[in-house]
Amino acid sequence: MIRPLRSSDATFDEPGEIVAGLQQAEKMISPKYFYDERGSQLFDEITRLPEYYPTKTELGIVQANIAEITELVGPQASLIEFGSGSSHKTRTLLENLDQLAVYVPVDISEEHLLQSARQLRAEFAGLEILPVVADFTKPFGLPTPSIMPLRNIVYFPGSTIGNFTHDAAHDLLEVMHHEAGEHGALLIGVDLQKDPEVIELAYNDSAGVTAEFNVNILRHLNREFGADFDLDTFSHSAEYNEPEGRIEIRLISSRDQVIAIGGAEISIAEGEGILTEYSHKYTLGGFAQMAGRAGFRVDRVWTDADNLFSVQYCVRQ
Ligand code: TRP
Repeated sequence: MIRPLRSSDATFDEPGEIVAGLQQAEKMISPKYFYDERGSQLFDEITRLPEYYPTKTELGIVQANIAEITELVGPQASLIEFGSGSSHKTRTLLENLDQLAVYVPVDISEEHLLQSARQLRAEFAGLEILPVVADFTKPFGLPTPSIMPLRNIVYFPGSTIGNFTHDAAHDLLEVMHHEAGEHGALLIGVDLQKDPEVIELAYNDSAGVTAEFNVNILRHLNREFGADFDLDTFSHSAEYNEPEGRIEIRLISSRDQVIAIGGAEISIAEGEGILTEYSHKYTLGGFAQMAGRAGFRVDRVWTDADNLFSVQYCVRQ
C-alpha cells in the first residue's frame, strides 16, 4: 500500500481561478486543466507523433549519455521528479542510476500518480518509491526514506520549464534549488530555439491529435465545473512568437458567444482566442542565465545531433 505524502496547502480545481483567467484582458485557461483522463491519453499520443520531436529526442539524449549522467549523479541519490505524470521518461534513469536511495515522484494528480507508482513498484522491486501529491510550484515537504540519500537530484524532463513564463520559471527554479538542498543538483530537459517551422509543425500535427488535446480542455471544464463551452465553436491555433521565443497555443472562437461558468458569464468575440499554453524555447545562454539567477550553475549540457533539444545538469552554486 502506497500512501502519498500530501502537501498541506495544495489547493486544486478552483472554479474561481478559471473565471479569473477568463476575465483577464487576454483570456486564458491554466494548462493544468489539460490533464484529465482523456487529456493524459491524448498527450501520450502527442509524444508519439512523428512531428512532435521533444519526447523522442530527449529520450535519445538521456539514453546516449546515461553513463555520464550516472557518474555525475553518483551513488545513493534521491531522485525527485517534478510533475512525474506516468513516469515514462524516468525508466532509463531508474534502470541505470547507481544504488538509488529513493524515487520521489511529485504530481498534482493523485490518481495518475498512485497508479504509476504501483506499476513502477512492480517493475523495480526493491526500489523505495515515495510519491508526493503536491503543486510543485510551491515548496513542499519531502518524505523520509529508509536509506539516507547522499544527495537530492531534482528531475524535470519534458521541457515543462518552457510552459512557464520567464518570471514563473525563475521562481520554479528557486523551488527546485530549495528541494535539491545542499550538494543537490537539477537534471532538466530544455527545448531549444530553432527553425520556427519545425516548432510549429510539432504543435500542429497532421493527424489533429494536438487540436483534439487542446479542445479537450473545454470538455474538462464543462464536466468538472459545469461550464457550457460548445466545443464545435473553438478551433486549435499554435503560432511561434519569434521575438518571445515561444509557441503560443490558443483556442479561437468561431463566433460571438457568451459562456456560463462558475456563476459568471464570459463574452467571447468571433476570432478571439483563449490562451491555453505557452511553450518557451531557450538558447543555451538564455537558460544558463536564468538558472544562474536561481542559484544554479549549468555543469553539463547534452544535445542531439540536430541541436533540437537539450538535457542539462545544473549544480547548486
Ligand atoms: N509541455 C508540452 C510542450 O510544451 C505540452 C504540449 C505538447 C502541449 N503539445 C501541446 C500543450 C499542445 C498544449 C497544446 O511541448
